[in-house]
Amino acid sequence: MNTEVIKLSLDDPDFSDKINKAADVIIRGGLVVFPTETVYGLGADATNPEAARKIFEAKGRPSDNPLIIHLAEPGEAENYTVTNDIYYKLSERFMPGPLTVVLPSKETVPKATRGGLDTVAVRCPENEIARAIIRASGRPIAAPSANLSGTPSPTNAAHVIDDMYGRVDVIIDGGSADFGLESTIVKIDSDGGVTLLRPGKITVEDLREVCGKVNIADAVTDKLKEGEIAISPGMKYKHYAPKAPLTLLEGEIEDICDYISKNSAENVAVIAYEDDIPHLESKISFARIYSFGKKDDEWTQAHNLFNILREADKENFEQIYAPLPRMSGVGLALYNRMIRAAAHKIVKL
Ligand code: TXA
Ligand code: MG
Repeated sequence: MNTEVIKLSLDDPDFSDKINKAADVIIRGGLVVFPTETVYGLGADATNPEAARKIFEAKGRPSDNPLIIHLAEPGEAENYTVTNDIYYKLSERFMPGPLTVVLPSKETVPKATRGGLDTVAVRCPENEIARAIIRASGRPIAAPSANLSGTPSPTNAAHVIDDMYGRVDVIIDGGSADFGLESTIVKIDSDGGVTLLRPGKITVEDLREVCGKVNIADAVTDKLKEGEIAISPGMKYKHYAPKAPLTLLEGEIEDICDYISKNSAENVAVIAYEDDIPHLESKISFARIYSFGKKDDEWTQAHNLFNILREADKENFEQIYAPLPRMSGVGLALYNRMIRAAAHKIVKL
């Protein structure tokens, strides 16, 4: 397939023309990769089952793993889902923005889009390029992260080109995604609370201010148990794992340096807090160090994580080490992605 890469920023004099071109591809049932404030999405008309099937094929994604429907306005959810008061409370506070809500589906959403489930996940992205494409196409846009199944979500156009060139019609290069980790996903419970299925920039603490009760699905922080049915299908699939094994270390920087010195061959990488880098460089000068951002700056860490993992994958490291994030605030989103990338290998020092 011929892929056209279109560079686009909000001040582009041809903004509308370029958006209309992308929207036309969507209307005709094609695939368009576009930036969102979380990660890049691989979009198609959510109401067209053939187009939805093309998404699964381009990603190499199992067909029972449902897609998120992207809307320009929260109220458009009425056309595709059965909404409720909690949905509107959440949307007033967090939409447009990086929050996805799982609701009962209406028949207007083809089964192919929702992976055969009777629910569907909706989100209104904040990114103006994403919103413009949704508006111009007049369609709800189904969009998973624009990576090949099993690689980290793409946070810039170079990542997308690595994975999707030749598999999609258009790639919109809108620069680096703001946040860098995928949206927070919640399911609304019958008691008026919500269950967190995937942590993101909208934190548990943020959700509590609106809903009071926030349950955290076990699979957010733990391994899915043998035989357990995943509350969100994405939880059951093997997640991205770097080519080199990743180990998460919890402890003081002195102990971390000692552990790495004792346990490693020459060819190792360390994802390190900026504050710790001078210490690491003096103690384990043999290791390749990737700066994660300052220890208390989880937003920068979120922005850097997938890029670092993709960069590290280009080298032949025997082992990668990274710090274990805390389980609150945006730390919970980092924790959730990193324990899965590490296949739950955590060493407490
Ligand atoms: O930030 C994001 O959410 C990005 C951008 C492009 O919007 N999208 C994204 O989509 O991360 P995807 O498909 O890579 O991840 C969506 C996750 C999957 O794990 C899927 O299983 C889950 O959401 N999901 C989708 N529909 C669901 C539903 N009805 N019930 C439970 N989980 C659902
Ligand atoms: Mg994904």
